[in-house]
Amino acid sequence: MEPLNTLQEFTSLTPLNHDLFDEKEIQVWMKRDDLNHPTIQGNKLHKLKYNLAAAKQQGKESLLTFGGAYSNHIAATAAAGKSFGFKTIGFIRGDELENQPDKWSPTLKEAHNNGMQLHFLNRMDYRQKTRAHFLQQLQQQFPDSYILPEGGTNELALQGFEELSQQLAMQCPDWTHLYCAVGTGGTLAGLVKFSASFTDQPRHLLGVATLKQASYLIPTIEQLCGIHHNQKGVTQWQLLQDYCGQGYGKENTDIHTARIWFEDLFEIPLDPVYTNKMIYGFLEELAADKIPPGAKVILYHSGGLQGRLPEMQT
Ligand SMILES: Cc1ncc(COP(=O)(O)O)c(C=O)c1O
Repeated sequence: MEPLNTLQEFTSLTPLNHDLFDEKEIQVWMKRDDLNHPTIQGNKLHKLKYNLAAAKQQGKESLLTFGGAYSNHIAATAAAGKSFGFKTIGFIRGDELENQPDKWSPTLKEAHNNGMQLHFLNRMDYRQKTRAHFLQQLQQQFPDSYILPEGGTNELALQGFEELSQQLAMQCPDWTHLYCAVGTGGTLAGLVKFSASFTDQPRHLLGVATLKQASYLIPTIEQLCGIHHNQKGVTQWQLLQDYCGQGYGKENTDIHTARIWFEDLFEIPLDPVYTNKMIYGFLEELAADKIPPGAKVILYHSGGLQGRLPEMQT
């Protein structure tokens, strides 16, 4: 399957220089996928591109998906629908928001403005989102819809990370470590799956969990990428669970400080839910000497900047 070819996505690998990195004898770059598309940003572009092509090929008229009030995936799906001629339908967690549009997050308002039809589910019903029976019912109710899971993670989403892995291999053939943020695990799984295709040299992929008690994601990621965590081989990956602070969407003082330090120093904006924790995790690992001298480290900027609150926008 070909991805939709109007999607521009070759982004820079920006070197980051700092005395701290020199002292530890490592080299660091940031992959600027926050710049890969104006509205379908970061990892979302990779996850959606083959799914959009599949939806077109199947003659579907709508994209139907699930997410919370601050979901970047909801925003990206709404934007993709608008750009590529699909109607969009979003099932949102939390029915308390149904009749209170003034309390909608900027993400929900943007999705709505991009034409997404919003349906609000109470938390119990929302948990059905992966059940086969529930999905069959939805498919019957919305027969013209292409259904995407929460966070957009599925087999076709993973495929989208092949080109990204190829770009990284071209831009820095001997990179050794890559840090990325983890929500559902699709991004990490995609990068793990394809990073070995372009090298014989060991690569370490470190996914920083953004939610608490994330170990339940490990079997899912293993299944998606086909590589056991902590397996010794060309590609090794781990889910780092110590850098999520108080949990999903919560930025404690240490994480906030790391984000502001990074943003001020390198003039690269981060988001307050995902990439802030990725940077915090990387800095903590560096301080604890978990990254060996000689390492060539890539920090993956997965976007999410539309989720920044208006007062945080620069
Ligand atoms: C900006 C950003 N970075 C990282 C992630 C995590 O990606 P994944 O769900 O594939 O683990 C997300 C997930 O929605 C995201 O919006």
